[in-house]
Amino acid sequence: MKNLSKSVCYLTIILLVVGCKNQTQNTTQNTTQNTTQNTIEYKIDSILKLMTIEEKVGQMNQYNGFWDVTGPSPKGGDAEKKYEHLRKGWVGSMLNVRGVENVKAVQKIVVEESRLGIPLIIGFDVIHGYKTTSPIPLAEAASWDLEAIKNSARIAAIEASASGINWTFAPMVDISRDARWGRVMEGAGEDPFLGSKIAEARVKGFQGDDLSAPNTVAACTKHFAGYGFSEAGRDYNTVDVGTSTLYNIILPPFKATVDAGARTFMNSFNELNGIPATGNSFLQRDILKGKWKFDGFVVSDWNSIGEMVVWGHAKDKKDAAKIAITAGADMDMEAHAYIKELATLVKNGDVDQDLLDDAVRRILRVKFELGLFDNPYKYCDEAREKEAIGNPKHHEAVLDMAKKSIVLLKNENNLLPLKKEGQKIALIGALAADKNSPLGSWRIAAENNSAVSVLEGMQQYTGNKLVYKKGADVTIGESVFLYDAKINTTDKSGFNEAIIAAKKADIVVMVLGENGFQTGEARSRSNLNLPGVQQELLEEVYKVNKNIVLVLNNGRPLTITWANEHIPAIVEAWQLGTETGNAVAQVLYGDYNPSGKLPMSFPRNVGQVPIYYNYKNTGRPADIDGNVFWSHYTDVEKTPLYPFGYGLSYTTFKYDNLEMNNTSFSINDEIKISVDITNTGKYDGKEVAQLYIRDLIGSITRPVRELKGFELVDLKAGETKTVNFTLNKETLGFYNNTGEFIVEPGGFKVFVGGSSTAILEADFELK
Ligand code: NOJ
Repeated sequence: MKNLSKSVCYLTIILLVVGCKNQTQNTTQNTTQNTTQNTIEYKIDSILKLMTIEEKVGQMNQYNGFWDVTGPSPKGGDAEKKYEHLRKGWVGSMLNVRGVENVKAVQKIVVEESRLGIPLIIGFDVIHGYKTTSPIPLAEAASWDLEAIKNSARIAAIEASASGINWTFAPMVDISRDARWGRVMEGAGEDPFLGSKIAEARVKGFQGDDLSAPNTVAACTKHFAGYGFSEAGRDYNTVDVGTSTLYNIILPPFKATVDAGARTFMNSFNELNGIPATGNSFLQRDILKGKWKFDGFVVSDWNSIGEMVVWGHAKDKKDAAKIAITAGADMDMEAHAYIKELATLVKNGDVDQDLLDDAVRRILRVKFELGLFDNPYKYCDEAREKEAIGNPKHHEAVLDMAKKSIVLLKNENNLLPLKKEGQKIALIGALAADKNSPLGSWRIAAENNSAVSVLEGMQQYTGNKLVYKKGADVTIGESVFLYDAKINTTDKSGFNEAIIAAKKADIVVMVLGENGFQTGEARSRSNLNLPGVQQELLEEVYKVNKNIVLVLNNGRPLTITWANEHIPAIVEAWQLGTETGNAVAQVLYGDYNPSGKLPMSFPRNVGQVPIYYNYKNTGRPADIDGNVFWSHYTDVEKTPLYPFGYGLSYTTFKYDNLEMNNTSFSINDEIKISVDITNTGKYDGKEVAQLYIRDLIGSITRPVRELKGFELVDLKAGETKTVNFTLNKETLGFYNNTGEFIVEPGGFKVFVGGSSTAILEADFELK
């Protein structure tokens, strides 16, 4: 013990000395920020000089903790070895360790027992809230409310950091056009413009203005890159995309987070055009660290270094370690490849020591920025843990986020909002009483069954008679390991009592959709129908009562074509987190007028997938002379059921007077567009006004529409407001196939309205 405390002092003294020395050297520096950064670099230099190769490799090694598991590894696996490595300073980070007591315990081992006492960075999947759970990210994206999304990430950071965590594996910024992929619930949908804005908001929410504050956490942009394009929507599958899609669709949200200051990146399980992303030098070295000048660090995904062997890209783990470090993966999550192989590779001259130093420098840099060297226990304050986690103010904020995330898909004859009294309501569906599913996937720190159910939310409104009947379950039992379609129930024994209740009711509210664990990692589906017997239940109930409000609880777009044809009111309520039931009830009863817009197109059937609004025109977009030879399906329309950007309100909005400051512009001009929006209905409401462009002729063909601006507008009933948008060369240009950003002169169209099918349009020319 004596020796150990001596070593802690050793590093502390070195840091103090180099810190002072550097301060005097830097008196001429202009900004404090530069001085701080230089001081950090100087300190890192000194530490690097002290470190053995094994200790350097140790910093690049991340182990899972002993309790929660988020990948294929036995619970508590290798515990003994992990403790031994912590003591040796051979672990730079742990994931899935949470709670002040647990974090303190592992931190104490490295700080007090390892030779250099370099603190651990503690990572966790803080994906949508921590204990207080906010809506799943796809739902939040439906709000198009960047301030609210930023605030949601802020609250997640406050709670997580109070629990000892200082690094979240979020935001997930993978664009996806395929609802079969279970991880669409984690992202912001199909559009790179909206996705970039949301990615930036999330980074700012997590990291705040000061990364060294005790209530901020380092963000980790993931999964770099292309993961959302897994073939056939099957998780972990091959990704093969052209350069135009890569540069214009996949990469922009990643770039946006670098610009927003994200301090870490995670690479990805997929291969991209034949090279696993984890071993992909083009992505990590050329683009991320080269072109974008990212100076944080890259962590691998869970065993993605090891999986390069299975992909058939690396001979064995040693080869995989060499490929990964060479390609720019700085930290190894749970492959144990670096800790086993890297020191030997360096000593044998197979891996350049400079690569090691660069990786360690990046990792130490982030640790310095987090303030871990000043106080390794700064995230370990029991009083703060008690006060912050589950704080009532956080519940208010996630309720606000939840309401904003709801999308009204259909409301025939103004069935909604419900009257507050005098109605007999039958509430049907297992999900209506479910307190767990609404928490969605990726909510490890939330207590099971801690969500307010829709039933509980609706029970707050006592003016109506409310009868609840389950009708049918969604799945057989409930487990995080739900992975097989066979888990869907076939039991219809509850149908009868649900039908009887529906017969007696004025209005039937049916809550149907997916179990909370039917989306998320490894939860791909090959059909997008309501799982189990829910569709049958819906049709049976419809036979006895047509006044149905269908409330969907799901983590991805579903194919609800039958419902759209028959059910008068449909509300997309996703999985809205802790406050789900209150948010849904407030929307159904009109205390909140829904304002969400879809961040992903809803297909009519699964055969339309991938389906997205910013498609290319093709050479045969329409039937012009009555023959069959045009781009379409013979058995279904080619349009989606609900397009990107679509969502209704209890009021209506009218767009008109689309004006531009000119019709011809040079490339450096600012193009000003204005439009008048009037609330033409009876309720006050909020509209997401959207602006799309079409670049008519491109050296690389351009999509038929591209979102380039949006604005949330609050309008009282009868009120008109003028909304302004600006376009410039950043929004009018695109990446060519060598990744160069170009702006091409020529004709453009601009469309403004309440969805991607907006019809109000104008033309302009770029000279
Ligand atoms: C694998 C997932 O792909 C990634 O998103 C997550 O952060 C890690 N596991 C850690 O749980």
